[in-house]
Amino acid sequence: MDSQQPPIKINTICCIGAGYVGGPTMAVIADRCPSIQVHVVDLNQSRINAWNSKDLNQLPIYEPGLDEVIKRARGRNLHFSNEIKKGIQNADLVFISVNTPTKKKGLGSGQASDLRWVEACSRQVAEFAQGHTIVVEKSTLPVRTAAAIQTILKASNQTQSKGKSARSFSILSNPEFLAEGTAINDLENPDRVLIGGEDSEAIEALALIYMKWVAPEKILRTNLWSSELSKLSANAFLAQRISSINAVASLCEVTGADVREVSKAIGTDSRIGTRFLNSGPGFGGSCFQKDILNLVYLCHHFGLPEVADYWESVVNLNTWQQHRIAKLVVKNLFGTVTGKRLAVLGFAFKADTNDTRESPAIRISKDLIEEGAQISIFDPKVKQKQIEIDLGIAASPPPNKKGDLSQAALNGEGTWWQTSNIRDAIDGADALLILTEWDEFFHIQWDEIAVLMRHPAWVFDARAVVDPVAVRSAGLKLWRIGDGSE
Ligand code: UDX
Ligand code: ADP
Repeated sequence: MDSQQPPIKINTICCIGAGYVGGPTMAVIADRCPSIQVHVVDLNQSRINAWNSKDLNQLPIYEPGLDEVIKRARGRNLHFSNEIKKGIQNADLVFISVNTPTKKKGLGSGQASDLRWVEACSRQVAEFAQGHTIVVEKSTLPVRTAAAIQTILKASNQTQSKGKSARSFSILSNPEFLAEGTAINDLENPDRVLIGGEDSEAIEALALIYMKWVAPEKILRTNLWSSELSKLSANAFLAQRISSINAVASLCEVTGADVREVSKAIGTDSRIGTRFLNSGPGFGGSCFQKDILNLVYLCHHFGLPEVADYWESVVNLNTWQQHRIAKLVVKNLFGTVTGKRLAVLGFAFKADTNDTRESPAIRISKDLIEEGAQISIFDPKVKQKQIEIDLGIAASPPPNKKGDLSQAALNGEGTWWQTSNIRDAIDGADALLILTEWDEFFHIQWDEIAVLMRHPAWVFDARAVVDPVAVRSAGLKLWRIGDGSE
């Protein structure tokens, strides 16, 4: 950048997409930069209404600390609306933060990202932007998506420049590394902020925003493609660690080793490190599987089938792990769960979030329902409507006080219902499965629970949250992930 040139000053930001990434990220930017007006826009009116709700318990997503940030900034310099055109027109900088799920049909189906929302968004920016606009990819995108956005913006420039006042665009990639459940802390204290682009003035304008609260040495600048690929690679590396430790866990179970001891032993090697070595029911969330499949697609596209297979094996092991847990529940319950009551504790893909995208609980519950089980589901944050969407099966009424089976159950069909507390979920159950590491599951009083269950009763702890001694001395049988001890 020309050192004489004053940096571009950003007065107004528009973020398109008020989801799990856009909402919290813009809330923290607005909180830390009171002089910038931040407008978050979304097509989904009910989501916008939820972001504007007076009762902060009704925000569309649950994140610890989010309510405090919203309370400080909303109405001051943070605004949620569906005024997409106005938002873009007035913005010096537009974040694209829309959903990019895996394609369900057509070319690249099951692997490539579906970019139709990004494309629609780019066209909206192309149509409404005025003057110079910095366009920032925030959604995780396949490498070289920036080129597609650039092409759309350029094309609109050429067709409109005759009639309208001059417009210009700079494209940046600024992937978000926040993890759900710790989003506010991750945004306020990031390990790094990555900004990729070719236009150094635009890069510095965005860097100045982050520098309001992030140390300058944590702001990394790269070219566009490195930035896009770094995000996919970071997620692939993290997911690969989880599949590795889950693979080790299965070996521990048959050899008498304990995966927690192994994790500790290998994690103390400073080259390996301690984090992301918790074995569990497999990774979920909106990113890991989608991003790896994206990487797999890219590798095939660029003629690297061996590399594609390597990354695909990380997802395959994860899928296997989820089916494995459902299978071992059936095996331990005398080979059948038809008509049996099973309690699923935890449906979110991890604790401290209401997000269920790709949650291991979905596949495990579906497998057990398929086997004819009667499942009661308790999760402190996930709503019944969401579980119905995820399982693709409507909830059944809970059994009556006597625990009589419904007609569907008598016919051998699997059913499920939701409960509002742990006790109701467990009442009359043959087994309970812990699938999310919610804090309250660490404090279950096993003596009180054991008397509610039908014996011999099992605890399947896929998150290793229970105290094995307390469970066993309450007269319950225990399977714990990665635990080969009897
Ligand atoms: C992830 C990345 O961490 C984040 O940087 C990126 O921006 C988005 O994707 P997220 O999916 O929100 O974040 O949560 P994360 O904490 O990474 O957990 C993902 C899944 O892995 C969860 O299902 C979690 O339970 C599981 N997990 C995580 C394990 O099974 N073991 C571990 O040791 C860590
Ligand atoms: P993420 O986890 O990446 O934040 P979400 O699905 O939670 O993804 O949120 C993406 C949001 O983007 C949704 O609320 C969706 O309605 C919104 N969205 C998608 N396309 C557009 C668009 N063209 N204009 C405005 N909002 C959009």
